[in-house]
Amino acid sequence: SIFPVIIPAAGIGSRVAAATAKQYVSIGGKTILEHTVQIFLSHNQIGKIIVMLHPEDYTFTTLSIANHPQVMAVIGGCERVDSVLQGLRCIVNFQDPTQFVLVHDAARPCVNAQDITRLIERCTAIAPSDNVCGAILACPVTDTIKKAASTKISSGHSQHFSIIDNTIERSLLWHAQTPQMFRMNELIHAIETGLAKGTKLSDEASAMENCGKSVLLVEGPSSNIKITKPSDIALATFYLSAINK
Ligand code: CTP
Ligand code: MG
Repeated sequence: SIFPVIIPAAGIGSRVAAATAKQYVSIGGKTILEHTVQIFLSHNQIGKIIVMLHPEDYTFTTLSIANHPQVMAVIGGCERVDSVLQGLRCIVNFQDPTQFVLVHDAARPCVNAQDITRLIERCTAIAPSDNVCGAILACPVTDTIKKAASTKISSGHSQHFSIIDNTIERSLLWHAQTPQMFRMNELIHAIETGLAKGTKLSDEASAMENCGKSVLLVEGPSSNIKITKPSDIALATFYLSAINK
């Protein structure tokens, strides 16, 4: 089957702090958003691509992907979760809401087609008796993780330092990535429930978890980074040239 994908690209990229929003930073002559959309356009199990845009985005329409028949632009919201919800509310007007949808950050241009395929395979293989609602790409944590105490200590020159409270057991920790894949109606319900309760929802899986649902972790590569800080541009440039094409 063919699945739609929602690509949240309505952020301003404050941490990258480039001249444009980070999705419009160029890598190898193509914007980050074009790299990301291109991967999904080339994937034969992906149908409609709904790109969520900032209300004052005047760049998207200048890109050639804007005219592709599979690509649709929709205005996003204040937070990432609001953008995803707007996208979902739009797709259910023309797609079966009981079907799966993928959500993938515009800021993750280094995702591989094979990993998208594995995620789709795992989701479509879920049996009703599994009690699992969907899956996400994720990568096991390799660093030793420290939890800081809530109070900082003051040292000389009025500097404040965090101190370690304890070390978190790492063997069960994963970095959540995207794509994340769930059924449209279940995801809309989970996000609306979370927003009504005022819960912070930094990804789709967290909305499902808060509703008591089980989500599969599908191991993806550490190269599937989210461009977040200025140094991530160089890293993405390397991964895009070395891995993808
Ligand atoms: N995003 C979105 N709508 C928002 C905020 C974010 O669609 N209101 C998108 C971003 O464009 C990005 C993805 O969600 O592709 C992940 O968010 P993040 O990395 O936080 O991007 P920004 O919010 O743009 O960056 P920053 O938080 O540094 O400002
Ligand atoms: Mg953000």
